[in-house]
Amino acid sequence: MNFANELVQWYQENKRDLPWRHTTDPYVIWLSEIILQQTRVEQGMPYFNRFLAHYPTVTDFANATEDDILKLWQGLGYYSRGRNMLKTAQLVQAQFNGKFPSAYEDLIKLKGIGDYTASAISSFAANEAHAVLDGNVFRVLARYFGINEPINSTKGIKQFKLLANDVLNRNQPSIHNQAMMEFGAMLCKPKNPACGTCPVRIGCEAFKTNATTYLPVKLKT
Ligand code: ADE
Repeated sequence: MNFANELVQWYQENKRDLPWRHTTDPYVIWLSEIILQQTRVEQGMPYFNRFLAHYPTVTDFANATEDDILKLWQGLGYYSRGRNMLKTAQLVQAQFNGKFPSAYEDLIKLKGIGDYTASAISSFAANEAHAVLDGNVFRVLARYFGINEPINSTKGIKQFKLLANDVLNRNQPSIHNQAMMEFGAMLCKPKNPACGTCPVRIGCEAFKTNATTYLPVKLKT
């Protein structure tokens, strides 16, 4: 089995049961992805549930006031996320008639949605073949393929983007992307990765050369 198929199998056997994995509603996926961008799953989960209870649709969200949103956001940090979400929701309301888009090409045009979020929503909601690239995915790819290029250099980002789309399982982009992120979060962790139980360690460059501590490389800015 190849690298990507091994990870998908690992994912099916080890994944956490998380609420946003039960939906293909692009609005709900957007909500979860923005909350999880700078927040751990355990911390973000109650906020995700609260926001969804208050605003079951993007139209409900768009009709909220900034005060309402910031009150619900309290304790989560990076408050600009909440403010930008309100702007994005209002754009969706105006430009897409309140129907949250699930196509990458529509999503990327929205102010407040970048490549990561557009890839996540279009793959999870519509199974479009766009590889996600977050901190977890950078780490998994850097270690497995032994890539020394810094993950925060222009050249590095390009190289990782190409590689991520190269290994993407085009038959099941949604599960593939979830699997890459979950594998990075649960097994191929930043510190003390669980190489002992890793299903792909035989092919892993970092494991072979004892380099998990040094990869991925990140430039000090
Ligand atoms: N972190 C960012 N997106 C995530 C997701 N969909 N599931 C779990 N953790 C995440």
